[in-house]
Amino acid sequence: MPSAEQKLKINKSKASRFDFDLIADSYDNWYAGRRGAMYDRLEKKIIAELLPAAAEGEKLLEVGCGTGHWSEFFSEYGFEVTGLDVSERMINAAWRKSIPNASFHIADGHLLPFADDSFNWTTAITTLEFVRDAGAVLREMIRCTRKSGKILLGVLNGLSKVNRQKQRQEIPENSYAAARLYSPVELKQLLQPYGRVKIIVGGFIPAQNWLIPFAPWFDRSARTLGSQKGAFIAAVLKL
Ligand SMILES: C[S@@+](CC[C@H](N)C(=O)[O-])C[C@H]1O[C@@H](n2cnc3c(N)ncnc32)[C@H](O)[C@@H]1O
Repeated sequence: MPSAEQKLKINKSKASRFDFDLIADSYDNWYAGRRGAMYDRLEKKIIAELLPAAAEGEKLLEVGCGTGHWSEFFSEYGFEVTGLDVSERMINAAWRKSIPNASFHIADGHLLPFADDSFNWTTAITTLEFVRDAGAVLREMIRCTRKSGKILLGVLNGLSKVNRQKQRQEIPENSYAAARLYSPVELKQLLQPYGRVKIIVGGFIPAQNWLIPFAPWFDRSARTLGSQKGAFIAAVLKL
């Protein structure tokens, strides 16, 4: 856990476009609902396509780990997980899950409190959209990753109609409204200067609730057709 001195150095409003402390207690409800659970399943499918067959003992840093939802997935996958987030309430929720081989810290992705080359993998899932300076956070992630390592990103797609509708919703504490969404091309442009990039677009879910059980079929079909408009982009950068 960070010292009181480190906590003081974090200026939340300079670090993040939205204060996730405000929604930390209800954050995991999204994953529990039918639509959220289906998104989660499809997002994990494409993230898993970018992971190695085995990750036993590999060190993974997760920037913007939130409530530890993805940390749990990475821990089950075999990684030794270090999660960090600028929101204290999110980090408290992550600790409460008692995820094996995972530790959590309050820190700002713009100034990572780790030595160069500390991790095999560094990841940020739906986090780059919320940081103040995505380029600066990406450079910090690269600094902390070994030269042979990989950066893994999950990003909300700016070409997705559903995501753009969510941005416009006039509801209290709408984190989407603060997000800077990326298209697959924009994400590629951000990553390309640093190495080889592979991108997968997924998360194709029909708008009608009664069609949700058929989402895996929609997703497969849209991916086969090469649509770039799914809700979620997964990307891996090989340094
Ligand atoms: C949409 S949530 C995603 C949480 C988690 N990755 C997930 O997918 O469930 C974005 C997270 O990024 C965190 N965040 C935003 N700016 C940050 C920064 N500069 N450094 C670290 N975390 C940040 C927020 O506090 C929030 O928990």
